[in-house]
Amino acid sequence: MELPPGPRAPAAWQTAAWTARPAAFLQQVHARFGDPATIRTYWTEEPMVLFSHPDAVREVFRLDPSIAPAGQSWEFVRPFAGEHSILVLDGDEHMRERRLLQAPFHGERMRALAPTIASLARGELETWSGRVVTLDRMRHLALEVILRVVFGARGDDEVARLREAVEDTLGMVRSLPRALSMALVQRDLGRHSPWGRFRLAVERFDALLLEVVASRRADPGGDSVLALLLRDPQPADDRHLRDQLVALLVGGHDTSAASLAWAFERLARHPEVHARVRDGDPAYLDAVVKESLRARPALTIAPRLLLEQVRIAGWTMPAGVQVAACLWLAMRREDLWPDAAAFRPERWLAGDAPASPLSWIPFGGGVRRCAGAPFAELEMREILRATAGLELRPIRPEGERARRSALVVVPERGGEVAVSRR
Ligand code: HEM
Repeated sequence: MELPPGPRAPAAWQTAAWTARPAAFLQQVHARFGDPATIRTYWTEEPMVLFSHPDAVREVFRLDPSIAPAGQSWEFVRPFAGEHSILVLDGDEHMRERRLLQAPFHGERMRALAPTIASLARGELETWSGRVVTLDRMRHLALEVILRVVFGARGDDEVARLREAVEDTLGMVRSLPRALSMALVQRDLGRHSPWGRFRLAVERFDALLLEVVASRRADPGGDSVLALLLRDPQPADDRHLRDQLVALLVGGHDTSAASLAWAFERLARHPEVHARVRDGDPAYLDAVVKESLRARPALTIAPRLLLEQVRIAGWTMPAGVQVAACLWLAMRREDLWPDAAAFRPERWLAGDAPASPLSWIPFGGGVRRCAGAPFAELEMREILRATAGLELRPIRPEGERARRSALVVVPERGGEVAVSRR
């Protein structure tokens, strides 16, 4: 059975390009081999077929999870994310978990979280002046938002202790080669081996998180996502709640930080867009968020591992292959997005964004679509709104290239900007 065409270069070379220059690599693969194309990297053991046409993307997102589970693609996060994590589950268990987790991220309940996010954003941006590496600052802020708004951490002391424990653990997971090798060699060779240190960091983090869960169970007031999960008529047990919170952390921390750093990288190079953000029109702000997620998505693929043969876009693919909706390529198609490389929020207001929801897919799709998407967009809007009093200028005029940092694609110089006050 023949797979769609793709680069013949060795997997080591493709892995290097995929990691160091992901945008250029995907663009070259698309220019040379069209849609679909097959790549081979160490990212997955199997070859991966990338699709970007909305019809093919629909077929990928509609694949039955019993044939094309997504949970297996997240297997390497299991040691941190836990057994009950939505990320590693599939089928009925996954759907049950999704219903529970999505509930707090809708309507009034979610909008009630906006003032807290706005105030955390103002507190952060007040400290900016001179050269700011926005990726570092957004990692800090996105974590603050998760700890206070999602975990419901109270007081500076609780937040600081949780922050330290999360940073210890995520610091180890972030260096991807190490994460992969730890997943392969999960043998505890003592407290000082990488795996041993990782286990200890997770244990320390778990102990703290379980303390927070116990104290909120005793007093579940407030609007936090944890408080809402606890008010469910049948709240989960502690271990399960821990896994739910960690799934939100793993899914929502680096992705939000990377997306925001890209938004700053773009805004600094488009003062006319920033000027319109300052005008305060909510529809324009929403368009800036959508355009930023389109032009610079933090995740490039939504992969599914095939357990059986399937046919997509006229190609028959055997079991043991990864098929992926390529988020990056789907949102760069010139046939759907005229002048696709340009950052032009106006396209969302002029009605020339494509009608099909399958052409704008920064959050993936189908039953695995990002559970935190409405929250992520709300967070981006609140943080960008808080930049009204700032002047942002690029440190260097040329746009930043993309590189991978663990799971996400980030600006290579961290979205550096020069900040002054208006
Ligand atoms: C701009 C920021 C974000 C982006 C670009 C993003 C993107 C994504 C993508 C592409 C997926 C996989 C979809 C698929 O396989 O089809 C995903 C899954 C997920 N995301 Fe997000 N995400 C963001 C923020 C968040 C936030 C803030 C949260 C939670 C607070 C979150 C929680 C999750 C969870 C729990 C999943 C797994 C869903 C499942 O397996 O059913 N994400 N996200």
